[in-house]
Amino acid sequence: MSTILVTGATGNVGRHVASQLGAAGLKVRALARDPGRAGLPVETVRGDLTEPATLEPALRDVDSVFLLWPAFTADGADEVVAAIAGRARRVVLLSAPGAEAPGNHFHEVERLIRHSGLGWTFLRPSGFAANTLGWADQVRRGVVRWPFGRAARSLIHEKDIAAVAVHVLASAGHNGAAYVLTGPEQLTQAEQVRVIGEAIGREVRWEDQPPEEAREQLTAIWGSPEFVDGALRTWESFVTSPEVVTDTVPRLLGRPALTFRQWAADHAADFA
Ligand SMILES: NC(=O)c1ccc[n+]([C@@H]2O[C@H](COP(=O)([O-])OP(=O)(O)OC[C@H]3O[C@@H](n4cnc5c(N)ncnc54)[C@H](OP(=O)(O)O)[C@@H]3O)[C@@H](O)[C@H]2O)c1
Repeated sequence: MSTILVTGATGNVGRHVASQLGAAGLKVRALARDPGRAGLPVETVRGDLTEPATLEPALRDVDSVFLLWPAFTADGADEVVAAIAGRARRVVLLSAPGAEAPGNHFHEVERLIRHSGLGWTFLRPSGFAANTLGWADQVRRGVVRWPFGRAARSLIHEKDIAAVAVHVLASAGHNGAAYVLTGPEQLTQAEQVRVIGEAIGREVRWEDQPPEEAREQLTAIWGSPEFVDGALRTWESFVTSPEVVTDTVPRLLGRPALTFRQWAADHAADFA
């Protein structure tokens, strides 16, 4: 049986990709920078996407790769894509909406893959519901202070992104497809905080933070001012043009996409 290599297997999405592929009886190998600490229930091999030479053992006998790109630039992606193309037949990339237009690293990584000779499928999920875990400390204090409370997003459960990845990896007919994946509904950020409060049985208040203050804080955390400015511009745009909802998840999986309420229930312990 050919092997599927899962990168990002210790992360939000990859963790579920690895476990769901294993549950489907497929042969899975996980990539991690520190396999000893990864604690995954599947074969885990050391490799670092910023050091392409380290990927060789992980790519042995691999047919397909679930790939995420862990950086804010595409520097080095050419070597990684070439290493994968030298070994595997196809790649499923965890990309993002907006990748179709130049000017972001997702576009560049997709472009490299399109020209690599690999079969490919691009998954372009909307905002991850898991991003709201960044509010956990504030949720515990009862007030979330963040910019653009009226920005409406169609946040997606990481399990749904993983389920689509597994569906694509386990079935034919997805070569050359770019799927925009979203949750089933639009919720403003202030509403998201209310739903989290309901899931944990506590009232949590929203407070609008001036974007300039957020810019400073997020640049200190993310390190890339360009990425922070891009994120702030995107969130602001969702105040007047809510993030789109697509039917791709239900169409591919044959069941409704998981709601943010479901996600919050699944993660109530993370906010406790
Ligand atoms: N958050 C969003 O709203 C959103 C939306 C669209 C797309 N995305 C994309 O989704 C991806 C993040 O997915 P996620 O949330 O599931 O991941 P995550 O929870 O942020 O975890 C990051 C994963 O990447 C791995 N990783 C980090 N640096 C690495 C390196 N140098 N070499 C190999 N592996 C490395 C980590 O593995 P180890 O530490 O174990 O090595 C870990 O498994 C990013 O590419 C992001 O751009 C995010």
